[in-house]
Amino acid sequence: MLTRALGETGLRGSVVGLGAGPLGDERLDDAAAERLVRGALDLGVTLFDTAPSYGRSEERLGRALAGQSGGDVLVSTKLGYGVDGVEDWTGECVRRGVDRALGVLRRERIDIAHLHSCGPEILAREEIRRALEDAVRDGKVGVAAYSGDGDGLRAAKSLGLFRCFQVSHNLVDQEACAEGMPDGAAVLGKRTLLNAAFVLQGAERPDVAEYERRFAAVEWPELVRDRPAAAALRFAAFGGPHAVLVGTSRLDNLARAVEALDEGPLPLETRRAIEEAWGRARWPGLI
Ligand SMILES: NC(=O)c1ccc[n+]([C@@H]2O[C@H](COP(=O)([O-])OP(=O)(O)OC[C@H]3O[C@@H](n4cnc5c(N)ncnc54)[C@H](OP(=O)(O)O)[C@@H]3O)[C@@H](O)[C@H]2O)c1
Repeated sequence: MLTRALGETGLRGSVVGLGAGPLGDERLDDAAAERLVRGALDLGVTLFDTAPSYGRSEERLGRALAGQSGGDVLVSTKLGYGVDGVEDWTGECVRRGVDRALGVLRRERIDIAHLHSCGPEILAREEIRRALEDAVRDGKVGVAAYSGDGDGLRAAKSLGLFRCFQVSHNLVDQEACAEGMPDGAAVLGKRTLLNAAFVLQGAERPDVAEYERRFAAVEWPELVRDRPAAAALRFAAFGGPHAVLVGTSRLDNLARAVEALDEGPLPLETRRAIEEAWGRARWPGLI
């Protein structure tokens, strides 16, 4: 597995990370969740991204990674909401959220802690920013991060607080990377496989339905038409984020992503065609 330095954060991780959203899905039982995380480790995955809003994902990830030392794997989660008895998007919620995450993830430090998809008005609250800075100063959080796109991302970039940004980056969603990132910041790509919108299924989720519309609107190069998942992975992993998250409940799909990484960057003309397709439409980033 290819590894990369995550910007100038001092962290290094596998280029394919496990997006552990599906890990929280109750359709996956505990044993299958454990097998997924252990299988990911066997594939060389050392970056795991979770959130309080992903059901039991944090709890299951914490259990499955309990034997792994902090230096071996990077754990990334989200903050700002979901602490019992505490108002969301307050300094107290961020402070207590860090302690909650350390407990449930069974770690001494959260390597990357993102404020999760909040807008400019929340980012303007000093108590929230200070709570995150304090957690970094106290060694509870390695890198302060922001996850989101659009106006929230633009506001976050201007603050000088965050050293890592988790942004959408895929065949049909390139706004965040096209607008550029602060020097030295780590960039984690989310929605790498465009939520599998290349399998046109009449998705009910509005974000996935939007991706389906976008994907159907483009005359794709052959490599994308023939093997869209592999092309999506190769597009996202080379030339944009330092690491790309793949959300899957299936180890075979994660293994396919790792295999696609081994194929290296897409040919230049294919990459250009993909960038031009987005450049013509200039679709906005989906959070
Ligand atoms: N911070 C945020 O607000 C935010 C938002 C979105 C995502 N994220 C992060 O980014 C991660 C990835 O994003 P995502 O999960 O939304 O979307 P994604 O990785 O683009 O797509 C996930 C979907 O792709 C399917 N899939 C995986 N490999 C496939 C293959 N080879 N062929 C066909 N389908 C395949 C998965 O189904 P199977 O389970 O069947 O494999 C799943 O339905 C998340 O898990 C999360 O960590 C963060």
